[in-house]
Amino acid sequence: MASDNDLILRMEHINMFFPGVKALKDVTFNLRRGEIHSLMGENGAGKSTLVKVLTGVYSKTSGDIIFCGEHINPKSTLESQKMGISTVYQEVNLCQNLTVAENIYIGREPRTRFGAIDWRTMTVKAQKLLRESLGIDIDVNKNLSFYSVAMQQMIAIARAIDTRCKILILDEPTSSLSEKETEKLFEIMRNLRDTGISIIFISHFLEQIYTICDRITVLRDGSYIGEYEVKSLPRIELISKMMGKEVKEDEIEANAVKSKPKDQKFIETSHLTVPGKVKDLSLNIREGEVIGLAGLLGSGRTEIAEALFGLTQKSEGSIKVEGLEITVKNPMDMMQRRVAFCPEDRKAAGVFGDLTVRENIILALQAKNGMFRHMARSKQNELADHYIDLLRIKVSDREQRVSNLSGGNQQKVIIARWLATQPQLLILDEPTRGIDVGTKSEIEKLAVTLAREKGMSVVFISGEMGEMVRTCSRILVIRDHEKITELAEDEISEAHIMQAIAGDYHGHA
Ligand SMILES: Nc1ncnc2c1ncn2[C@@H]1O[C@H](COP(=O)(O)OP(=O)(O)OP(=O)(O)O)[C@@H](O)[C@H]1O
Ligand SMILES: [Mg+2]
Repeated sequence: MASDNDLILRMEHINMFFPGVKALKDVTFNLRRGEIHSLMGENGAGKSTLVKVLTGVYSKTSGDIIFCGEHINPKSTLESQKMGISTVYQEVNLCQNLTVAENIYIGREPRTRFGAIDWRTMTVKAQKLLRESLGIDIDVNKNLSFYSVAMQQMIAIARAIDTRCKILILDEPTSSLSEKETEKLFEIMRNLRDTGISIIFISHFLEQIYTICDRITVLRDGSYIGEYEVKSLPRIELISKMMGKEVKEDEIEANAVKSKPKDQKFIETSHLTVPGKVKDLSLNIREGEVIGLAGLLGSGRTEIAEALFGLTQKSEGSIKVEGLEITVKNPMDMMQRRVAFCPEDRKAAGVFGDLTVRENIILALQAKNGMFRHMARSKQNELADHYIDLLRIKVSDREQRVSNLSGGNQQKVIIARWLATQPQLLILDEPTRGIDVGTKSEIEKLAVTLAREKGMSVVFISGEMGEMVRTCSRILVIRDHEKITELAEDEISEAHIMQAIAGDYHGHA
């Protein structure tokens, strides 16, 4: 047992209410100096809320926070930052239209002796900070938006380090990072830990938790379940604790019986080209088929999905739906042909936070039917309840505003929206990102079941090879916006996909 002296932070009997929701119930959280500690729990368990109580975004209803031996009660993120508690969110909380250097020093700019901002010093200091603490060499006078999300996260971390934080909180920082970028982040995390900084790490990737974390605190339904050493907590037990029921190994990793494609082709493209996005793509997708698009981040998987949904226009080639060549001017053309696209970036293309869960779910169906053909309220309620139940969306009721849902539950609302249109072709771009392990395997199974039982065609895009291997009956490997090869049923394995991406496996394309 660690003595109290080893603890940099103790949160005790924390309660937090939202109208109609008890988000945290008597929660305990103990953080040691120089450890990486994961908060685990299903979507809506209260992880982000606990972090937000700690950083002064929400004020707790009751309970104690003891930081470095003293009771604290931060009222804003700025106040908690000044105390040494910094947060890096998945949605980078920096300003896109300021330079990297400005972002690092905003609110604490170096001044000349006349009191003006000392731009030169700021540039030099920012460059030095990034190089010395993170080994990154970039032009700090470029706007933040010039850099990738991964780099932006590194910059946010550099800022946190420079403010001499004692606790660094990373809430789902890796969900849009590539494997390489994640490794780099882990290296940085380990170095920070070794200098005595404590890190709170939230992620739904079990693999990552077991790679990087020392200890885990599990929350379930707003309640504290326990704290554990990673080394002595088998994965299956962790999942059981998160879900509150005994789970057998094969329930999680179950290789659902894959769907056998029918003969009818639903959609076919021939030499489809969208300048700068899709190169000479010929593919066909049959009914009852789950087809995967595999490739590295930025390989052009999403661009293919966008072209199939009419979000971008071809310069060459053709698209046929049910055997007929069609002209596609916009997504409505594809929606009318029963194509649905569930995008990866829920913030930009997804949920309408001010609308209710019900309104969000019926949105695409309403648009497809025409805005003037109003859907009876009873029908809306029925649809909403059906999908809330099917996807286990955690809401207090269907009239709850979507902005009040946890991140993972917002993601589920979008999937529900597109399922509600009863598409023939459903394109799912990273559908399980930010989704807890239990629901994740349910979504995988759902994709397979829709194909097998309803004859639906599903395009499944995921950066997680295991997920693709479990769900897809065929996989197209994409590199540099081009289809490299296809893997059919018995050729599908993680190793083959990796080899194909690297160009060393050619399947039978
Ligand atoms: N601003 C808010 N108003 C009302 N309820 C909220 C608000 N923020 C969160 N909640 C509710 O509090 C509960 C906990 O949400 P929280 O965001 O902490 O979950 P989480 O564990 O971070 O989940 P995820 O893995 O999906 O990110 C959920 O039931 C959520 O709907
Ligand atoms: Mg969260």
